[in-house]
Amino acid sequence: MIIAVDGPTASGKGTIAKALAAHFGLPHLDTGLLYRAVGRQVFLNGGNPDDPDDALAACSFPDSLLDDPELRSEASGSLASRSSVHPAVRKALYDRQRAFAMQPGGAVLDGRDIGTVIAPEADAKLFVIASVEARAKRRWLEMQSQGRDVALDAIEEDLRIRDARDSGRKNAPLRAADDAVTLDTSDMDRDQAIAAAIALVEARRA
Ligand code: DC
Repeated sequence: MIIAVDGPTASGKGTIAKALAAHFGLPHLDTGLLYRAVGRQVFLNGGNPDDPDDALAACSFPDSLLDDPELRSEASGSLASRSSVHPAVRKALYDRQRAFAMQPGGAVLDGRDIGTVIAPEADAKLFVIASVEARAKRRWLEMQSQGRDVALDAIEEDLRIRDARDSGRKNAPLRAADDAVTLDTSDMDRDQAIAAAIALVEARRA
């Protein structure tokens, strides 16, 4: 069984994908991490993420970079979003994602274009959304718990910029596949969102 989980930043898609993988006993790939590694590698190379050649050169990042905690930062997210608009970057990361999706027994992948490009034949596709206000609040609480004091307005503005870039790009934009089920987590806590996602996938399977 292949499960595709797509959605914008801080929608809860990562948490949901991880929980689905544990529930159904499937391996999970956070594809955003691959794009974050590219963005981080561009930075380490002293390159420009808006330059297609610099971004493509960064696709040969070492696997060890995937364990770098810095990948989780807002800065890496933004570098990833900028690097990921280039068709050559998406092409360079395609085979790795496709092979993960096609492994015997299936897999759960989360990202922006899993249901549309990476695994259009997925058995269940979830498009996880939440209002920008709810997502900013979640990010803000997460940062507060890490002792980082960032203004809520600044987080919300950053999310809007990232949404516009990820949805507006020509190549593999963030959008729901025609056969995806949309799950709005704005008014759900973590456990409610996970339970709703499991129920939707079970319904698809049945
Ligand atoms: O899911 P995330 O926030 O870790 O993703 C970081 C950026 O990577 C996101 O803003 C756009 C890009 N991305 C993408 O273009 N396609 C994916 N499948 C996953 C992420």
